[in-house]
Amino acid sequence: ALPRSLEGVHVAISAGGTREALDPVRFIGNRSSGKQGYALARVAAQRGARVTLVAGNTADLVTPAGVDLVRIGSAVELRDAMHKIAADADVVVMAAAVADFRPVSLTGHKIKKTDAEPDPIALTKNPDILKELVSARRDGQVIVGFAAETGDETTSVLDYGRAKLRRKGCDLLVVNAVGDGKAFEQEDNAGWLLSADGAEAAIPHGSKAQLASAVWDAVTDRLTRSQ
Ligand code: C5P
Repeated sequence: ALPRSLEGVHVAISAGGTREALDPVRFIGNRSSGKQGYALARVAAQRGARVTLVAGNTADLVTPAGVDLVRIGSAVELRDAMHKIAADADVVVMAAAVADFRPVSLTGHKIKKTDAEPDPIALTKNPDILKELVSARRDGQVIVGFAAETGDETTSVLDYGRAKLRRKGCDLLVVNAVGDGKAFEQEDNAGWLLSADGAEAAIPHGSKAQLASAVWDAVTDRLTRSQ
């Protein structure tokens, strides 16, 4: 097999954004296109992996050849799907943009407009799926997270990423700067690949497929080491 081959490896990848329903016709969503997750799936399939792609809302994307597609709507649906699939996966990549909050209650009928001021929308926290998957990790399973960060006066994007890697407990974390038209809905990406063993590599500006290749290179190294 090729040195970077993923033959015989089952990878589970989440992509796109979740939608948190308010009523039968409305939801709270986000601008994730799913392009990075789909690029990860395509490259993994090209390297011979068995790929299960769990997709929330995405742009109009072509499912890569040979990839099993599972569709989900909300964060809770994504969590259920990921736990089921991760139980049989060697690698799990959480590239989905999971809503941090969901409406407390789902109204069974369309919320009506009246002359009165609308009620505020009460929200509750969604589960942190990545953290849960880390807690449920199988022996030798490699878990990859993503972090879309903006820096500020006191803390850089990279430092936020380092803290997030520790907090989430995953093996690898892809950190990318967002805002100012970066990453979201774009064809290209850039960032850092942080490893739980302390290794850090800059991912130069390039296509989402190039970033995917860098991720799979790092994953393959880890799989080889733990064998
Ligand atoms: O905490 P933050 O949302 O920045 O973390 C990003 C990473 O965690 C991504 O890999 C994302 O898919 C995952 N995540 C998750 N469950 C959430 C929120 C984020 O798995 N509720």
